[in-house]
Amino acid sequence: MVKKTNIQSADDELTNQQQDVYHIPVMLMEAIDALNIQPNGVYVDCTFGGGGHSREILKRLNEDGRLVAFDQDPDAKRNLPTDERVVFVPHNFKHISRFLKLNRFDKVDGVLADLGVSSHQFDEAARGFSTRFDGPLDMRMDPSQSVTASFILQTYSQQQLHKLFEQYGEVTNSKTLAAVIVQQRSRNSYQTIEQLKQALQSVVKGNPNKYFAQVFQALRIEVNEELNVLKELLEQLPGILKPKARVAIISFHSLEDRLVKNFFKKGSFEEEVYNPFEREEKEKVFSIISKKPIEASPEEQKRNPRSRSARLRVAEKL
Ligand SMILES: C[S@@+](CC[C@H](N)C(=O)[O-])C[C@H]1O[C@@H](n2cnc3c(N)ncnc32)[C@H](O)[C@@H]1O
Repeated sequence: MVKKTNIQSADDELTNQQQDVYHIPVMLMEAIDALNIQPNGVYVDCTFGGGGHSREILKRLNEDGRLVAFDQDPDAKRNLPTDERVVFVPHNFKHISRFLKLNRFDKVDGVLADLGVSSHQFDEAARGFSTRFDGPLDMRMDPSQSVTASFILQTYSQQQLHKLFEQYGEVTNSKTLAAVIVQQRSRNSYQTIEQLKQALQSVVKGNPNKYFAQVFQALRIEVNEELNVLKELLEQLPGILKPKARVAIISFHSLEDRLVKNFFKKGSFEEEVYNPFEREEKEKVFSIISKKPIEASPEEQKRNPRSRSARLRVAEKL
């Protein structure tokens, strides 16, 4: 199987920066069409960002329709349209059930998640996401949380660092990388991107831009617990979706895509224990609409390099 990741090269980032927009939505029409929007329905955009997907959802809703938009980054709020049908939730989507209840929505007609970070987050040097700038080793999407990339580099064990660079960044020499980070702690406090880059000069393998992009991706996933929160979101879906409601998830990393694929197939993350006396098959939760993950068109991939690693999966609640 070919591993697909969202390693974003400096060139990809530059393309977005040149266009000077908050974020270019990826697979916009594919994702919106997949939701099969009912004009008076309630829809959730888990990752509002620049609001590209949300605006398309709103276009398809009538005055009774509602959109609940989550984003844990306070910067996203500036993109909110003036529209009474929108409820903005400035929190992590892992709390989806709680906030839907709080806003008196029982079940919803569709959920969209366009995972990862926005181009805006990459383009702000002070956020520490991009290898292009110097800045603090921060990488938090939610600036109120306490764990930063700097904290991880200063406190994680060599073993923990090795695993995270291997799994989340697919860094080929992740063991050496982890060892060098730990060795240099006494003289490097890993406060800034330049400090990290300097510390890693001797371990960089291949193209330095690509290497640092892999290192940064791994740190970002760990800082924001991206796989855990996705799992938490998925586990709540069966409880919040109406029958026939659609869920569309765009992921940029093979580990995320695998979580989505398996959850859509089984409807849970619980290990199935084989019981020879149990005759009934477990009831299915979803019908899978996208048998294979949907990819961006060649034209979109050319126009927006970020879309190259995007995979959209769609399922319908039974
Ligand atoms: C790829 S962008 C989404 C872009 C959006 N679809 C658009 O068209 O502009 C991801 C956004 O989701 C937010 N985000 C990522 N993970 C989140 C989470 N677990 N909870 C809430 N917001 C999250 C990020 O802060 C970012 O603004």
